[in-house]
Amino acid sequence: MAEFIKVATTDEIAPGQAKLVEVGGSEIALFNVGGSFHAIDNTCTHVGGPLCEGEIDGVEVTCPWHGAVFDVTTGRVLGPPAAESVTRYNVRVNGSDLEVEV
Ligand code: FES
Repeated sequence: MAEFIKVATTDEIAPGQAKLVEVGGSEIALFNVGGSFHAIDNTCTHVGGPLCEGEIDGVEVTCPWHGAVFDVTTGRVLGPPAAESVTRYNVRVNGSDLEVEV
C-alpha cells in the first residue's frame, strides 16, 4: 500500500533548486518550483542521467547528460533525446517536513 515517507524538510530546497533523496531503494529528485514541491524519478529515461543535477527553468528540468527536457510537475518528457516520461510522485508538506508517496 502506498504511504507518505518523510524525505526532507522544506528549508533544504530553495526555490529553483533540486535535491536527490532515496526512498525504498529508488532515487527521487525533489524540486521546489516557486515554493511548491514536486517529485519525479531522478533517472533520465534516455540512458540514466541524474535529473537532480539538471538545469531548472520554471517547471522544466534539462538532463545534464544529453539535454532531454522533462516537466517536473508531471514527469512528462518535453524534449529529446529521451522518448519516455519519468514517474511522478505525490508530495505532501507536513509542517516543515516534505513527504513523498511511495
Ligand atoms: S541521459 Fe538524459 S538525455 Fe541522455
